[in-house]
Amino acid sequence: MFGKRGKDDGNRAIPEFRPPASAPAAPASTGTMTVERPAAPTSSAPAAPPARRPVEAPPMAPEPPRKVQRERSETYYDTKSQVFSALIDTIDLSQLAKLDPESAREEIRDIVNDIIAIKNFAMSISEQEELLEDICNDVLGYGPLEPLLARDDIADIMVNGSKNVYIEVNGKVEQTGVRFRDNQQLLNICQRIVSQVGRRVDESSPICDARLPDGSRVNVIAPPLSIDGTALTIRKFKKDKLTLDQLVKFGAISPQGAEILKIIGRVRCNVVISGGTGSGKTTLLNCLTNYIDREERVITCDDSA
Ligand SMILES: Nc1ncnc2c1ncn2[C@@H]1O[C@H](COP(=O)(O)OP(=O)(O)OP(=O)(O)O)[C@@H](O)[C@H]1O
Ligand SMILES: [Mg+2]
Repeated sequence: MFGKRGKDDGNRAIPEFRPPASAPAAPASTGTMTVERPAAPTSSAPAAPPARRPVEAPPMAPEPPRKVQRERSETYYDTKSQVFSALIDTIDLSQLAKLDPESAREEIRDIVNDIIAIKNFAMSISEQEELLEDICNDVLGYGPLEPLLARDDIADIMVNGSKNVYIEVNGKVEQTGVRFRDNQQLLNICQRIVSQVGRRVDESSPICDARLPDGSRVNVIAPPLSIDGTALTIRKFKKDKLTLDQLVKFGAISPQGAEILKIIGRVRCNVVISGGTGSGKTTLLNCLTNYIDREERVITCDDSA
């Protein structure tokens, strides 16, 4: 335990901090040829959830029941803010930065549990667990985005200001109960994301593309370019890639069309893949690269991060 309890030298470290990422930022599709531009941020308007043609969901095993994040009350956010301030007064962030994420999480949990006991906050065990998780995510991770980033079924996360968070699941956009404390917290988290690839986002540089350590693609538009708070979109990196055979199975392409594409991939034809945002360009490109001869040299160009 290394908390600096009872001591405040008035020189507080930044409340939000993230230990160095274990994996380097990598392109979403290493070993593939990417010849597309990222979706250009369109206008000064905040990013609206893109209208997208619903695609037939791949056949999947029945989903296990997942924890749905419900909207929290003002009291919850108030309590959290008090516990958070007490934690920042107590903890030594420079010491915390030396720990691995797991030990840092344990350390924060211990101190937050002490704070709740000392300040006598009335809450149930499950509320306390939620609060602990939230505070750990705020200090060590990407705050309220963490539960969404952990889900594999989400293709896109779209944030329009601190109170509106949308996700896309199986081709359908839905609003979530996730929210940020305020626009400053949202901007801080965006800052943290883009700083990992050596970029910054602020008034003088309000548009920024970046990647998460897992390869997920990120775009941030900050005020004054965005109107209602910062707009953030994350195209989640899918671990399970679709194959050409699966596209045929879904009816996205005919068997004959797939055969032609296999031949095109093998005989070194020039190919342009174009389409709207989220229409499946990268997915198709990844499928095609499977048919490029293993002996061929592949050069990947991508300007999004
Ligand atoms: N034929 C398909 N059937 C079902 N889902 C698909 C299909 N093609 C793509 N998808 C899913 O749609 C989402 C978007 O696909 P993808 O990233 O390939 O689009 P994109 O055109 O490259 O988007 P962007 O313009 O943002 O780069 C992904 O989650 C992908 O798995
Ligand atoms: Mg793409």
